[in-house]
Amino acid sequence: MENKIIIDQFIENAFQLKEHLAHFLSIEQIELDKFLENAKLELANLHPGDNLIDCADFYKDIVGDKHLADLAAWHISSKEYIADTLKLQQMFSKNLVLDFGGGIGTHAIANALSDDVEHVFFVDINKTNREFVRYRSRNLGLGKKISFYNSIEDTNISKFDTVVCLDVLEHLSNPSDQLETFHKIMKNDSNALFNWYFYKGDNNEYPFHIDKKDIVNRFFEVLQKKYIEVFHPILITARCYRKFS
Ligand SMILES: C[S@@+](CC[C@H](N)C(=O)[O-])C[C@H]1O[C@@H](n2cnc3c(N)ncnc32)[C@H](O)[C@@H]1O
Repeated sequence: MENKIIIDQFIENAFQLKEHLAHFLSIEQIELDKFLENAKLELANLHPGDNLIDCADFYKDIVGDKHLADLAAWHISSKEYIADTLKLQQMFSKNLVLDFGGGIGTHAIANALSDDVEHVFFVDINKTNREFVRYRSRNLGLGKKISFYNSIEDTNISKFDTVVCLDVLEHLSNPSDQLETFHKIMKNDSNALFNWYFYKGDNNEYPFHIDKKDIVNRFFEVLQKKYIEVFHPILITARCYRKFS
């Protein structure tokens, strides 16, 4: 499918997101709107603050379906921004794509709709997210083009042509290690799309974001040593990289 049509389909109804949510969660439209309304605050309230030992536990065990709601509300209310990230992705995606921390599947679905993409490997630590996107991909007739994993190792793929990691790095306890891992599974001409927001917000709206100075500094050391940026003209914070060293 042509990239413009893919983006238009996202703008129209976020790839049928609301219908998918209502069906997957077995709730009526009116309850769905309530479910989405306070999603961001409810997710923030679930965070145990400094008591959390491992960041991964929050996404694996604590968020339940609240993270689905938070991500869905965000993709619906900020659809122009999300559409720009899709434009970026459609410019650079090719062949075997890793979508790391794929969330509710917007980027995986757009990639699977693209003729330039052979297969999408959707990795997310959260089982509800994986099951939701599996349901969505079957419903959209993309069941054969996306497969689902808890970790990169589970994919059994040694090299990917494209790595998509959008709005995930600030959720990891060690984002620089993640950059090292991506580096190992990229070829010399693979493209990687990254963004990050190492900030908890002016009013602690994002208590789950990592912001420790030493962790953030180490992230930039690895990024600047191992990756080189590829220019793109879209005015968003997401960047495209290739391997440098
Ligand atoms: C803010 S969401 C971003 C989702 C999606 N990439 C997007 O742009 O909408 C972060 C996602 O990363 C996932 N995640 C967090 N830690 C992870 C880990 N260690 N491995 C894989 N996925 C992880 C969460 O479950 C969640 O779906």
